[in-house]
Amino acid sequence: MDKIIKNGTIITATDTYKADIAIKDGKIIMIGESLNDIEAKEIIDASGKLILPGAIDAHTHLEMPFGGTVSADSYGAGTRAAACGGVTTVFDFALQKKGEGLIQTAEGRNKLCEPNACVDYAFHVAITDLTKEVLLELKTAVEYGISSFKVFMVYKKEGLMVNDGVMCKILERSKEVGALIAVHAENPDLIDMRIDEFLKAGKTSPWYHYLSRPEFVEAEADKRAIHWAKALNAPLYIVHLANKEGMEEVKKARDEGYEIYAETCPQYLYFTNEVYKREDGRNFVCSPPMKGQDSQDALWKGIKSGDIATIATDHCPFQSYEKDWGKDDFTKIPNGCMGIENMYPFMLSEANNGRLSYNKVVELCSTNPAKIFGCAPEKGTIAVGSDADIVIYDPCKQFTITKENMHSDVDHTIWEGVKLNGYIDMTFSRGMLVFKDGQFLGKYGWGKFIKRKGRK
Ligand code: URP
Ligand code: ZN
Ligand code: ZN
Repeated sequence: MDKIIKNGTIITATDTYKADIAIKDGKIIMIGESLNDIEAKEIIDASGKLILPGAIDAHTHLEMPFGGTVSADSYGAGTRAAACGGVTTVFDFALQKKGEGLIQTAEGRNKLCEPNACVDYAFHVAITDLTKEVLLELKTAVEYGISSFKVFMVYKKEGLMVNDGVMCKILERSKEVGALIAVHAENPDLIDMRIDEFLKAGKTSPWYHYLSRPEFVEAEADKRAIHWAKALNAPLYIVHLANKEGMEEVKKARDEGYEIYAETCPQYLYFTNEVYKREDGRNFVCSPPMKGQDSQDALWKGIKSGDIATIATDHCPFQSYEKDWGKDDFTKIPNGCMGIENMYPFMLSEANNGRLSYNKVVELCSTNPAKIFGCAPEKGTIAVGSDADIVIYDPCKQFTITKENMHSDVDHTIWEGVKLNGYIDMTFSRGMLVFKDGQFLGKYGWGKFIKRKGRK
């Protein structure tokens, strides 16, 4: 045996129990009440600690050209930070360039990712140019192991947006080939009109980023996307849901029996639009923006009711000097924030404080993304036969997030000063220790591309 983790309390999405875990060749090969008779090269004592499956961050933008620059965490830095935050799998967005095939897009990104990734990874390909060939290729891409795709209802100027007809075509085809479509839902025309009005009136602070895309701008697009998914009877995954009305629409559709999944992000569960009034408000500029308290309350309610399926980060950070481009004009601030190292510790701290159960955190941050995106049971749980992607969590450790104790390449964090009740002691990626006591111990190039299953 390579390793035995002893005396810990195992937390899965459904169960909490005390047991030992034996690991060999990167897999969990035994779980038992007391594995005392088994020889192992290493014994790890986890008395008083929780043993959780590594988190899956199903929404990252690493090294991604965006906002007139490239997001500040490379594949190496972003997955290093992931490992230090208990994330053992990331799903990164690969943006299709005009004329490119879907597999070609993913393989192009993989050239950057493979030599550098510290944890396992997969790609969602964002479709920006739907040709006849691409429509056909969706089937091949699913067989290749890429079973989820993204469409943007916004970012027209950036060349990422698809129109309503294209989106419906993709939804229809996704059903035939067993793919899942993820959507960024906001109304682009409303945003453009409001931006124009604000800039003309000299209203240029980050607060107007929020006001250019307030609750109803996101809600309308959520409703439209859900309406199409229902009409076409296609499954749909809404990324970074941040508003109350959209949450209610998701709930309604799910109650009617439709396969609609909603993802939200830790930043929407912790911050509100008040951040845009702060001096450092531009650091919080992301799309959709943080919303009002009512929306935040609705998201927590959605977590309780099971209508939020996953939590992911939308990790897309930029350096301060890049955020500063928008000092006098919010439209020049590259959109995106950090969170890859903060998601699991934040959610687990909320559980430790009694807001939700640890099992629910595991469900949202690990088990559900693995199931929804086709990599369970290898990922997303602690079970015999699963990858030994494991987090050892100390519920008694107190931790304050600062830029200095984070592991990304970014020069600030929106989470600065946030106090957490409990923190991660160790992270294992396929049995290899990649984080311990605040130190990254992993290897660049260790992470593997995960071929995922389609939906049928
Ligand atoms: O502001 C954000 N979220 N930037 C990343 C791209 C996206 O919309 O997900
Ligand atoms: Zn988005
Ligand atoms: Zn995103």
